[in-house]
Amino acid sequence: METKTNLTRRQFFGTSLKTLAGVGLASSFMGKALSETCELTPPQTEGPFYPVRDQADKDNDLTWVKGQRQRAKGQIIHVMGTVRDDSCEPLQGALVEIWQACESGKYNHPGDPNTAPLDPNFQYWGRAVSDEKGQYHFITILPGNYPAAPGWIRPSHIHFKIQRRGFHELTTQMYFQGNPYNAGDRILMALPPQEQEKVIILFQKSPNVFEFEQGSQVGTFDIGLRLVR
Ligand SMILES: [Fe+2]
Repeated sequence: METKTNLTRRQFFGTSLKTLAGVGLASSFMGKALSETCELTPPQTEGPFYPVRDQADKDNDLTWVKGQRQRAKGQIIHVMGTVRDDSCEPLQGALVEIWQACESGKYNHPGDPNTAPLDPNFQYWGRAVSDEKGQYHFITILPGNYPAAPGWIRPSHIHFKIQRRGFHELTTQMYFQGNPYNAGDRILMALPPQEQEKVIILFQKSPNVFEFEQGSQVGTFDIGLRLVR
């Protein structure tokens, strides 16, 4: 199973590069991507909804909860990327933890005042460990926008916490390109524009390989960790 997953990841990354080569942009884009992904990912607030409830199911597929017969509601997305240090070396064995709201914008947290319904079929947080190429992969759903304060709607986002011995722990948030609430988000807008670019991710229709079910979308969020010196 593990081998199968690694193979399909390679297929995916391979497919992306082939597509770029086809439009003649491969060399310039790859050079740019390489320098970009080696930059450090900006930290952002943990927010008030870091998970406090344990779950029997803590894996990297948040769309199925052990024991439930139905899948989570919402647009299925694949969030993938590479964890690297600031000299571009991929980091194996980084613990990548995510937590997020369900499709309605509600967290499974006792402190969430949102009256939107919880989805019993959604696994509100999960974990993955980066492989020998530094890659991680989550299957989840597009979280809903939710009200944060009067006059402030938080855009869809996924919270991340990444830990790797020898590196500073990173807590941050990932956003979705094209969300109309991004521009009014007080947390995202607190970052300088060049840092915002690193955490606003383009999601596109998944390539037609078996790991990506029809109708799903995929986005790449690379993560740069700061070495403890
Ligand atoms: Fe949040």
